[in-house]
Amino acid sequence: MSTAAFEVIAALVRLRSGIVLGTDKAYMLDTRLGGLMRENRLANLDALAAKLRAPGNEHLAAAVTEALTTNESFFFRDGKPFDHLRRILPRLAAARPAMQRLRVLSAACSTGQEAYSIAMVADSLGLGARLEVLGTDLSQEVVRRAREGVYSQFEVQRGLPVQMLVKHFRQEGSQWRISPALRAMVRFETGNLLADLRPLGSFDIIFCRNVLIYFDAPTKTRVLSALADRLMPDGVLYLGGAETVLGLTDRFATIEGERGVYAPVTRLALAG
Ligand SMILES: C[S@@+](CC[C@H](N)C(=O)[O-])C[C@H]1O[C@@H](n2cnc3c(N)ncnc32)[C@H](O)[C@@H]1O
Repeated sequence: MSTAAFEVIAALVRLRSGIVLGTDKAYMLDTRLGGLMRENRLANLDALAAKLRAPGNEHLAAAVTEALTTNESFFFRDGKPFDHLRRILPRLAAARPAMQRLRVLSAACSTGQEAYSIAMVADSLGLGARLEVLGTDLSQEVVRRAREGVYSQFEVQRGLPVQMLVKHFRQEGSQWRISPALRAMVRFETGNLLADLRPLGSFDIIFCRNVLIYFDAPTKTRVLSALADRLMPDGVLYLGGAETVLGLTDRFATIEGERGVYAPVTRLALAG
């Protein structure tokens, strides 16, 4: 692949998703884009780049971007955020009118393990009926899988306690399907974190984990600011273990002793 072809593809992916592909990632283009190149009868990445440069290739541009996302996820990833969620959910539920549902966003939800883990925590607290979880991701394919709620043996063995597996999943051959009760608590939509997030409404809790790592600093700042606008003043934001707000925004403050958990800084506090 020529440097020019790599640059065309990397620029397109960055513009559409925020994902920065360094030249050290050039090796993955052939494998990740091989299927698309065959489908479109393109001999190589240079031919793909040329086609992307031509107008009217929106569908191909979206497919290339999607193919270059990293969708790794697993149930109860890193443990700690879910321990914190277990403590904060009853407090938030008590602070809202009884009829009001708590809204939780699982942004960049990939194949849905995070959103379903949140639902399992709420269910274990008897708060299932109070919760509404929205999972969003740029990739149509992972959103389709998340909606389906069917996981392989390998996927359910990663992080999911066996009692939760037995309680919330039904075995179908070599796969496991999420229970209708849990499925009903979670809704999935395709959604880009770079887009206008206002139509999503406000949330009591936002999970945005293991996606900011792919963005450059200005994009992280822009996304964090958009999330701050969507979070209730007493809500919480969970980031991934390798992510932080420090040096990026003053819209969130760290919570002492709680790694990866952030509280919104109210506009009033900012002004004062
Ligand atoms: C590594 S997964 C993280 C999944 C889950 N949050 C977790 O921590 O296990 C990153 C996800 O971010 C999604 N993604 C990347 N850029 C995005 C964007 N601009 N908007 C929404 N989702 C994006 C990818 O499609 C991918 O599914």
